[in-house]
Amino acid sequence: MSGVPASRDSFGSRFGVIAATAGSAIGLGNIWRFPYVVGENGGGAFLIVYLAFVVAIGLPVMMSEFVIGRSSQRNAFGAFKFLAPGKPWSVVGIMGVAAAFMILAFYTAVAGWTLEYIYQSFTNGFAGKNATELTTMFNDFRSGSSRPLLWFFVFMGLTALIIVSGVKNGIEKYTKILMPILFVILIVLCIRSLTLDGAAGGMEFLFKPDFSKLTASTILEALGQAFFSLSIGMGTLITYSSYIQKKENLGSAALSVAFTDTLIAVLAGVAIFPAVFAFGIEPGSGEGLVYITLPNIFQQMTGGYFFSILFFLLLGVAALTSTISVLEVIVAYFVEEFRVSRKKATWLAAASVSVLGFMCALSWGPMKDVSIWGKNVFELLDFTSANILLPLGGLLIVLFVGWYLGRKKTEMELSNDGDLKLWYITPFMLIVKFIAPFAIAMVFLQQIGLLSF
Ligand code: PFF
Repeated sequence: MSGVPASRDSFGSRFGVIAATAGSAIGLGNIWRFPYVVGENGGGAFLIVYLAFVVAIGLPVMMSEFVIGRSSQRNAFGAFKFLAPGKPWSVVGIMGVAAAFMILAFYTAVAGWTLEYIYQSFTNGFAGKNATELTTMFNDFRSGSSRPLLWFFVFMGLTALIIVSGVKNGIEKYTKILMPILFVILIVLCIRSLTLDGAAGGMEFLFKPDFSKLTASTILEALGQAFFSLSIGMGTLITYSSYIQKKENLGSAALSVAFTDTLIAVLAGVAIFPAVFAFGIEPGSGEGLVYITLPNIFQQMTGGYFFSILFFLLLGVAALTSTISVLEVIVAYFVEEFRVSRKKATWLAAASVSVLGFMCALSWGPMKDVSIWGKNVFELLDFTSANILLPLGGLLIVLFVGWYLGRKKTEMELSNDGDLKLWYITPFMLIVKFIAPFAIAMVFLQQIGLLSF
């Protein structure tokens, strides 16, 4: 059993809690993935479904993780072992740690691309290139070996340096600085995008719902996106909330985080779509939206040099505050379960993730022929973690809170005060016992191909 957490580090302030947790949630999922998923799924109608899922499912799952983390004050594995001794629930924690290894490996590889694009922005590397040349530039970079590897290791090193410094002096300190910077950059980019001629088409695309575009699989895609974006389902928020002091209100913290995460995703849409429409580009251009379409826009627009630097810095900052949260899942597990120092645990975790990450970074280059079930290493880890481990973890987490922990303990942790009657406890329990498990199970079965729409 993990030691009694008397000397455990914790977040020092409410702002620190929100900055760190929102920092985890806000990442490539908001700025890279959300806009292209919205683009591919027809815009406004998808957004409405997404918002409904964040409120009805995402928020309760997030609160469930908060309850597990703060009531146990332990890492993702130790939390289940402590709350359900001798029961098999700690497998959920192990799954979370395994998912953290996989997510960190491929996510850091994509985060590394961001550094290449910051470099290209500074050196004016997009200037004078047309769409085809920019596509070639992206593909050439990705299929190389030294640059994707170099940027992978730089990004992993930065992540580890923050984590080595601890919760208050590392995670909290840096997210409190980085998150406001991210917000300011995004607002500047929104203003620039909205003041372009022809911007209105982009706003209409994003906010005017066309329900004929909705299909069952789009709806399920929205739930998957909500999970990934909110960082739920793998113990990241269990780990972070184990550092939240008892005086903080978990319900309102979760609400602030879910709101901020969603706001940033929508603002990323506002920064991107008006510009995409202003330059007459197809909005549903998939994963290349940020790495191919945007450079194409930047090199045509007034002030594009400056705005491309800002944009890729934004992406890098957003990714960094997420990679640290994933590394922390593994480090907290090593420190508390194997009693190694934080420093050793951090470098050990970073080194072992790098073995997988090495293969991810080379997945379009020298290792492109290594494939399992038709997927390269990067795609395999992405698929297994995001589409299998996250929804399965989320499902087990709500079942744990709904059916094992139960209403009384949950209400006590959520209310900070045993006497308080929470107005939302009945609908909350209804969601975590029945509605969320059902919805997540549907997405899960669809994603692993057992259910098709
Ligand atoms: N929420 C992050 C994003 O939107 O980019 C990704 C992520 C971070 C997923 C941490 C899961 C996680 F545990």
